[in-house]
Amino acid sequence: EKIPLKLEVNGVKHKVSIEPRTTLLDFLRENLNLTGTKKGCDYGQCGACTVHVDGQRVNSCLSFAVMHEGKKITTIEGLAQGDKLHPMQEAFVKHDGFQCGYCTPGQIMSAVACIREGKADSEGEIREYMSGNICRCGAYSNIVAAIQEVKG
Ligand code: FES
Repeated sequence: EKIPLKLEVNGVKHKVSIEPRTTLLDFLRENLNLTGTKKGCDYGQCGACTVHVDGQRVNSCLSFAVMHEGKKITTIEGLAQGDKLHPMQEAFVKHDGFQCGYCTPGQIMSAVACIREGKADSEGEIREYMSGNICRCGAYSNIVAAIQEVKG
């Protein structure tokens, strides 16, 4: 049986009725067609599905959409301001912070949270914070460089 859910995604309010076992990840991708958020493992191991919920990073595959009543979700689609990329997106481009790109949305959402939470003071701290985001291409050094540039 579906249950009602109200939340805001990238500044847009949604009022839906949803199967209670739908993950936030599937809700974003399948109900809202926001496919920038990726499904890698679907069990909390890879970080490809990382989004922000009221500014906190969350693995969206691990939580049910209905747990987010009244919350504000931000996905990779919500970072740019019109035609202007978010500074972290610019920095990933500049430092080649990706190869195949599949993990990139999750990496960028974590990278933004890393700086916001004050966990970007050293390379070690950045690597620790980012350790839940797996990149099979091995772009880690370039990702760290991008984060360090944005942190300044
Ligand atoms: Fe959520 Fe891998 S898809 S952590």
